[in-house]
Amino acid sequence: GKVAVLLGGSSAEREVSLTMSGPGVLQALREEGVDAHPFDPSQTELGELKRQGFERCFIALHGRGGEDGTVQGALELLGIPYTGSGVMASSMAMDKITTKRLWLADGLPTPRYVKLKRKDISRERCLAIPDELGLPVFVKPPHEGSSMGASKVEGYSQMQEAVQLAAQFDAEILCEEFIEGPELTCPVLGEGEAAFALPVVRIVALEGKYDYQNKYFTNTTQYLTGSLSEAQEREVQALVLAAYRSLGCRGWGRADLMLRASDGKPFLLEMNTSPGMTSHSLVPVSAKAAGIPYSKLCLWLLAQARL
Ligand code: DAL
Ligand code: MG
Repeated sequence: GKVAVLLGGSSAEREVSLTMSGPGVLQALREEGVDAHPFDPSQTELGELKRQGFERCFIALHGRGGEDGTVQGALELLGIPYTGSGVMASSMAMDKITTKRLWLADGLPTPRYVKLKRKDISRERCLAIPDELGLPVFVKPPHEGSSMGASKVEGYSQMQEAVQLAAQFDAEILCEEFIEGPELTCPVLGEGEAAFALPVVRIVALEGKYDYQNKYFTNTTQYLTGSLSEAQEREVQALVLAAYRSLGCRGWGRADLMLRASDGKPFLLEMNTSPGMTSHSLVPVSAKAAGIPYSKLCLWLLAQARL
């Protein structure tokens, strides 16, 4: 039957979905013989999916209004099976603070943090943060992806500006202890007891930091698989699997982590429930290392679609 690849949307990550993840998935599914069509929920109301006879959706949207449970809820009401996590897991994972609270409650390691509200971001409040968390501090809007509005603050003088930037995206601001060490990411496929982790990817940004620019527009970032010891690889995979189950994710997801250089302890940063899907994105890179080609990955994810 007809499959809609949902792409675009209206979040700050619209362009990533519309020009990269969406077209990549669409082309791969077509190559595999699927009758797939693009559908941008910011241009056409979702009820059209039903009227046009779509039987399943591949969600290739990122950010709010796509990755956060809203579209998933609409598809539940329409009765159209979709890829990835359900309403609640999507919604919790879109909020980095809720995610951290859940992980902490389950005893899973995540960096210490302070939550600010947009209405109380006075200079004094901002300057108190490094006293609580040390320096550097990571300042992020908790409901964004792709490093949108996020900054690494190295000194007191940059603190308020970083908080104000994050506040442009969100009514809450997440200030997080910075963990010094390599940045890792690890995808998970499946659901519940049957879920399994793919190979861990180590991200090495050769030019500066791994920000929006380096995520999508340069090819100077290296994605290394097989760079951890076997024991550490297994430890990170087990942690990521626990993090995925803690949120109740299904279908697929990708956890981002920091590996503390001083003692090799991994810290969870966040779970992405609709990860980037360009052919050189992190999940495809990891899947490839596990022997799963990009188009087969797309086909497998589609096969997992459900209500
Ligand atoms: N938020 C982007 C798309 C990612 O995590 O891959
Ligand atoms: Mg993210």
